[in-house]
Amino acid sequence: LETQHANEINREDVAFVERLADRAAVAIKNARLYEEIHAANKAKSEFVSLVAHELRVPMTSIKGYTDLMNSGMAGPLSDMQKEFLTVIQRNLERMSSLIRDLSDINRIESGRMKFEFQDFALQTIVDDVLGSLRERIEARNQTLIVEMAEGLTAVHADPTRIAQVFANLVSNAHKYTPDGGQIVVRVKQGERVTAVTVQDNGIGISEEDQAQLFTQFFRSEDQLVREQQGWGLGLSIVRKMVEAQNGEISFESELGRGSTFTFTIPLANIEV
Ligand SMILES: Nc1ncnc2c1ncn2[C@@H]1O[C@H](COP(=O)(O)OP(=O)(O)O)[C@@H](O)[C@H]1O
Ligand SMILES: [Mg+2]
Repeated sequence: LETQHANEINREDVAFVERLADRAAVAIKNARLYEEIHAANKAKSEFVSLVAHELRVPMTSIKGYTDLMNSGMAGPLSDMQKEFLTVIQRNLERMSSLIRDLSDINRIESGRMKFEFQDFALQTIVDDVLGSLRERIEARNQTLIVEMAEGLTAVHADPTRIAQVFANLVSNAHKYTPDGGQIVVRVKQGERVTAVTVQDNGIGISEEDQAQLFTQFFRSEDQLVREQQGWGLGLSIVRKMVEAQNGEISFESELGRGSTFTFTIPLANIEV
């Protein structure tokens, strides 16, 4: 500290300046850390985009040739060849679902995900999503019950993204419910939001697992979970998407009894 009156600096002043210097040092350190984290996140995001793109290109080619062979264009196929092609296709589907999820996370985290907000009726979304999953649900003899409240009015969000959220929850209910189980979808309207609930009477989630449910790549250690295909990215994407559309997501679950997931969407013409 510069002063004309050296002898006027007392011990209190020194202590004060020391405290100030400590604070400044911490602030500078935090700023550096923040910059480093910011740079690391940006690098991660760029890396994921690059890898996703580089993987998509050869996958498109593998898929194209697999489809061609399947269609018999390259000559007749033996049963064994057909079976092998089916395995290739299934694994391609797994890879592309991972790439899609990673790209989505990347876009949400970097603020590059575009939401096309509009007013729309949920009925179509519910019908479309359930229509596309119905075959898989029936294949496992699961009962699907849909309860849409009367007189639902339009909601305000991105219909494609809401469909994605809903499909994720129904797909989880389907995957984590044993054969013959039951899935119930309920749509109810409140004063400001519409709530969509997906309930299953499946394997449920332990309290320990519940704490980590929305963490990227989290999957329960449970054997019944591990035998289903998945990357543990669905719920983390779902939560981010719901929140980006001004909704909320919650759940209740009991191990061995089933789970209920609910998300909300603001009604059209309501200030959020
Ligand atoms: N309806 C459900 N019933 C039981 N467990 C569930 C349910 N939904 C999600 N989980 C648990 O949460 C984990 C994360 O789900 P998610 O992010 O969708 O990933 P994935 O389905 O790819 O495993 C699942 O692996 C499972 O352990
Ligand atoms: Mg899932």
